[in-house]
Amino acid sequence: MTTASTSGLMAQLRDIVGKDYVLTQDDGADLRAWELDWRGRERGRALAVVRPASTREVAEVVKACAAARAAIVPQGGNTGMVVGSTPDTSGTQVVLSLTRLNKVRQLDPGNMTITVDAGCVLQTLQEECEKAGFLFPLSLASEGSCTIGGNLGTNAGGTQVVRYGNTRELCLGLEVVTAQGEIWDGLLGLRKDNTGYDLRHLFIGSEGTLGIITGATMKIYPLPKSQLTAFAALPSLEAAVQLLGLAHEHLSAGLTGFEVMGQFALSLVNKHFPQQRVPFWQESPWCVVLENSDNESEEHARAQFERLLEAAMEAGCVTDAVVAENLSQAKALWHIRESIPLAQAQEGLNIKHDISINVSRIPAFVAETNALLEQQFPGARLVTYGHLGDGNLHYNVQAPEGVDQKRFLAEQEAPMNQVVYAVVDRYRGSISAEHGIGSLKIDKLPEHKSPVALGLMRNIKQALDPLNLMNPGKLLHTENP
Ligand code: FAD
Ligand code: MLT
Ligand code: ZN
Repeated sequence: MTTASTSGLMAQLRDIVGKDYVLTQDDGADLRAWELDWRGRERGRALAVVRPASTREVAEVVKACAAARAAIVPQGGNTGMVVGSTPDTSGTQVVLSLTRLNKVRQLDPGNMTITVDAGCVLQTLQEECEKAGFLFPLSLASEGSCTIGGNLGTNAGGTQVVRYGNTRELCLGLEVVTAQGEIWDGLLGLRKDNTGYDLRHLFIGSEGTLGIITGATMKIYPLPKSQLTAFAALPSLEAAVQLLGLAHEHLSAGLTGFEVMGQFALSLVNKHFPQQRVPFWQESPWCVVLENSDNESEEHARAQFERLLEAAMEAGCVTDAVVAENLSQAKALWHIRESIPLAQAQEGLNIKHDISINVSRIPAFVAETNALLEQQFPGARLVTYGHLGDGNLHYNVQAPEGVDQKRFLAEQEAPMNQVVYAVVDRYRGSISAEHGIGSLKIDKLPEHKSPVALGLMRNIKQALDPLNLMNPGKLLHTENP
């Protein structure tokens, strides 16, 4: 863009959203919070950060950017794990932050839905539902800052997927500003609607590459009468899979969380957050946190949990366990699990493999891949944990102690990914279970997705965003027209 057309665009954007809500480096604004990804992996450079306050303003911003051929990077809470919501280093991309679109529009108890602006923080949504006696079950450790638009953009998973599904399964309708600046109102809230292609599902998980989600209608559920949490010590990952089977059998739909944590992952929580008292980690190679949500009573839930744990101990898959006595103990147990990514960040730069494999094959996958990594990358520290109930592991790697971390990443990340993803392919798994592709894995996607699937994805991108202005450089390599 020429200097004249840039200043013309800035003037237009200021007219649309107000001068305080267009931030640029030239005006002395500190853009670090919008330019740096959560993991501190990469800092881009934005042409501007624009903060509209309504769907209409978003549509006007998109039209102005399209006319000026300026690319747009939609951003919610900027908590994504794959460098998807920050601009590249060209200084030509506009970050469109949705955080001022933060209203709860309507909670409909009869339809069991809530309709919200896309910039609504996940925790706000959860709290609004709870106040009205409902549960919004999406639950992530980043819930205090991630937004529902970002959750939909990534099709986020989290810790309740085993019962309620990913964000996709929770969504009944979307409002979207298209790449042309039109507003599509798909906020119908219908549970059945077979009138052709389901457009909503195209936008969910598209990482801002097809359009901008400005509103969403989400399913809500009755608050369970009781929610109990247990923390169990296990001798092996095989035992964790066995325990999962028993939990399904004993708790059926009551099983709302099943998270596995390896010993080294828990040792990092113990090291960086010593005030959290992590049970069993010293003597046990694996631990599991599991949750039973029950619609009868707390006594019923406890009795179910007791029977499950007795059966598990008898089968030898659990060696020890605690069941939270009250809500604050339950929160503390969950907090241990949720602190693992934070402890990893404290420990330093790391490599994340957010993979999924059929649950039954996870122990074999881990044994095989551990052996390969230990042999080829001596000293690399494996941080294994995740949503075992969904077959989703965070098979992460921390640099060896005492080495230059940036150098470790520069030299070892690519060959290590190669090893891990080759095994994932052999097990017919996915190289991104819940975090998406962003720019971090964009080069990997073509190696792991079939040419037919990639071709279809390119056709969709081309049809919806022919000017290639929606988050280019993320998810899929595309060319400018
Ligand atoms: P951003 O990071 O701002 O954006 C993510 C992507 O969505 C980008 O591609 C962006 O362009 C696009 N986007 C954002 N808003 C919109 C919009 N309105 N319209 C269209 N596209 C949009 N993720 C999980 O899945 N499961 C977990 O358990 C989990 N745990 C986490 C724990 C921690 C401590 C942290 C820091 C992150 C965790 N994450 C997890 C990752 C992250 O929180 C999720 O990906 C979340 O959905 C991102 O939401 P956000 O609002 O921060 O989106
Ligand atoms: C989590 O489940 O805690 C996040 O998705 C994990 C991560 O940081 O890898
Ligand atoms: Zn996760």
